[in-house]
Amino acid sequence: MSTYTVTDTKKVTTKRIAEMKRSGEKIAMLTSYDFTLATLLDDAGVDIILVGDSASNIMQGNYTTIPITLDEMIVYGRSVARAAKRAMVLVDMPFGTYQGDPFVAQRNAVRIMQETGADGVKLEGGAEVAESIKMILRAGIPVCGHLGLTPQSVYKFGSFALRADEEAEAQKLIEDAQLLQELGCFILVLEKIPAVLAARVSDMLSIPTIGIGAGAGTGGQVLVLHDMLGLNRGFKPKFLRHYDNLGDQIVDSVGRYIIDVKNGAFPSEAEQY
Ligand code: KIV
Repeated sequence: MSTYTVTDTKKVTTKRIAEMKRSGEKIAMLTSYDFTLATLLDDAGVDIILVGDSASNIMQGNYTTIPITLDEMIVYGRSVARAAKRAMVLVDMPFGTYQGDPFVAQRNAVRIMQETGADGVKLEGGAEVAESIKMILRAGIPVCGHLGLTPQSVYKFGSFALRADEEAEAQKLIEDAQLLQELGCFILVLEKIPAVLAARVSDMLSIPTIGIGAGAGTGGQVLVLHDMLGLNRGFKPKFLRHYDNLGDQIVDSVGRYIIDVKNGAFPSEAEQY
């Protein structure tokens, strides 16, 4: 049973996120892709719900985040935004929707905002996507940056391994983080980089950082909900903490249902009309 209670139900805005950085309050972010689970996250008091393109893996069974489309992200985003009363909702811009023409990037971000009701977008990369970020911000859309392991570039990296553990890449990450702040990103996700580097970047910036596999020195944490609930049985990277083992529990519940159906124990008289 959780002992965490939400004391204030005011909507989480970019202004509040900035205040949380100033006051040192850690930001709790989790992913969701559907109305039912997003309702539970909002009831529990999570600050930000990320409609991550990890939906490609979690909802669609793809190996990477590359195949998911803008239209699909919009369906997930709209379902989550309908559920979130307090939490801020950010939607990932999927692969190919912002890396080219900045005007196209802006149009795609506008579609996300208009068609989902989300509060902002997240996109991966630093200097190479600066022009797109500028154009999206020019439309008044809040942007969350994402550096370190950026899964849309997995084929460039060659694996999902730790990033920026060598000096040159760490230096580029520091410069990109500074640039994203200067451009106007209001928050920055740091994925799978050394904890010392993440803490250094977090201290250097006036916008908050959110870590995943980046240690405790960031302004908050994000996990994929299905991973932290243990729904992805067998997925156990070092950075992940399992808060439940719902995968095992579901298999057990379904097993008991099957037995009841097979031996006629369900439905009982009380469960029929
Ligand atoms: O897509 C996603 O879920 C993400 C988080 C892991 C940060 O980008």
